Amino acid sequence: MQIQENISLRPYNTFGIDVLAKLFAGFKDPDDLEELLTNYPELKMMILGGGSNILLTKDFDGLLLKNEIKGIQEIHEDSEYVYVKAGAGENWHQFVLYCIGRNWAGLENLSLIPGNIGASPMQNIGAYGVELEDVFFDLEAFHLKEKRIITFTRNDCEFGYRESVFKSKHKDQFVILNVTYQLRKKPKYTTSYGAIKEELDRMGVKELSIKAISDAVISIRSSKLPDPHQIGNAGSFFKNPEINSDLFVRLNTAFPGIVGYELPAGKVKLAAGWLIEQCGWKGFRRGDAGCHAKQALVLVNHGNARGNEIYDLSEEILQSVKGKFGVVLEREVNII
Ligand code: FAD
Ligand code: EPU
Repeated sequence: MQIQENISLRPYNTFGIDVLAKLFAGFKDPDDLEELLTNYPELKMMILGGGSNILLTKDFDGLLLKNEIKGIQEIHEDSEYVYVKAGAGENWHQFVLYCIGRNWAGLENLSLIPGNIGASPMQNIGAYGVELEDVFFDLEAFHLKEKRIITFTRNDCEFGYRESVFKSKHKDQFVILNVTYQLRKKPKYTTSYGAIKEELDRMGVKELSIKAISDAVISIRSSKLPDPHQIGNAGSFFKNPEINSDLFVRLNTAFPGIVGYELPAGKVKLAAGWLIEQCGWKGFRRGDAGCHAKQALVLVNHGNARGNEIYDLSEEILQSVKGKFGVVLEREVNII
């Protein structure tokens, strides 16, 4: 295993922030990982996937471990499902395409999300009416202190909206090694969310298929989300806030255009992008830190912004949304 010193992390995070890691190593299996942990017992560690959900605000004074565990394997099937295990270092979108190519259904709405398999359960990735928990079977994770592998079922993960135990009670305790997905042999299409139906019509799709849904999702996403290869970003910077329905009624009276989606148990999820746009931030730029012109929920690095500049901008946005609407946004991106 090669251990590099003082390396720039710019190519390893989609925000394109240029900070240094004191030590950097890739690991391809649990033995590599164990060896690194044994050799550097005192150092602070961080696991890196595709770097598409982090904002680096300072040099990392520890050992950055890049998960490079590969492999995709069909491990079992029954009358309804195939169970497919993927290494944490596999690219998410390539895996989605691999499954669509084999007619294994369930991942199509999650097309084109950047990053790797290992991070997909971390925040229960979601898009266009589907969340990871809908297709999740189990995962294996390495306990950093106990140095043993533990299996987590769906219940163990305590998935929520952009949440799991790996972001809360087990934060920084585990390295996810692989994830097994439960995919349908006979598809169950989800087309009711957002503009999917309109996009399918626009594309002239006569017969629905998982490939058609994937293409529609890719087309919608490409039209409004910035490509990290062109403009640095980490997707939605904040979560969409969940509020009580009585507060929603009051806000709706004061701000008639407000965008909210009803949830069970008297809750409403607000579109944070709308709140931010109403505060005048959409398209804002200071130096190289900015708010995307087509999607106000996405903060961007136009070139050489520092992590702190993006963070400070996020704080200003948070305060202005709080001032205007009384709603406190929560950051979705991991600040490091
Ligand atoms: P990283 O950024 O590398 O890591 C994220 C966190 O997980 C870090 O804290 C890291 O330490 C930890 N981690 C990573 N791998 C492991 C592991 N194997 N074991 C333990 N901890 C680990 N997300 C959505 O949910 N829906 C979207 O629609 C969406 N759209 C996006 C669009 C764009 C343009 C971008 C840039 C991002 C978008 N995201 C979206 C966010 C991001 O793609 C996901 O959160 C993705 O799962 C992050 O994967 P990653 O491998 O890049 O994680
Ligand atoms: N809106 C505005 N102005 C904006 C942006 C959005 O008014 O600048 C309003 C519009 O009314 C729009 C609504 O907000 O109809 C929702 O916008 P969009 O469909 O773009 O989705 P989102 O709520 O902003 C969420 C996820 C995305 C996911 C999409 C599609 C969160 C935090 N974000 O965004 O996930 O791809 O829905 O399902 O839940 C991510 O997590 O990084 C991410 C990109």
